[in-house]
Amino acid sequence: MENVLVTEEKLEGLFEAAMQASKLAYCPYSKFPVGAAILVSDGRIFTGCNVENRSYGLANCAERTAIFTAVAEGARKIAAVAIAAPKAEYPVGPCGACRQVLTEFGDDDVPVVFGSKIENLKKATLGQLYPFDSLHELAQ
Ligand code: THU
Repeated sequence: MENVLVTEEKLEGLFEAAMQASKLAYCPYSKFPVGAAILVSDGRIFTGCNVENRSYGLANCAERTAIFTAVAEGARKIAAVAIAAPKAEYPVGPCGACRQVLTEFGDDDVPVVFGSKIENLKKATLGQLYPFDSLHELAQ
């Protein structure tokens, strides 16, 4: 498996892909579109949007849509994540459930960028967003 190089330009491009993905959000209840784009180690990019349901609790976040799609296409290693919430007034980071799911497939040093527009992009790592992670030894 190759290890794609993650540059600042690539992160900005990934955020642009997340912005595009947010346009496909199915969010008639919250009216809060979110898009995610995940770069995986072999260089492929997978996108996702939030998909809500009339049973509100069944909503799936953009981040999990993207990572589930990536895994279903054979990817196993996240190189970078971008999240776009264009209707937000500030950068929206992934929810707790998504942080747990992303860390199943990404190391602590994986960059995560998030913003409502390119001008307010924030950058963190998976390890910063989900410290003291545990139970990886269960995945054999
Ligand atoms: N949402 C995401 O898709 N990702 C996030 O990081 C934050 C929240 C979705 C869930 C729900 O459909 C809507 O945004 C409002 O919470």
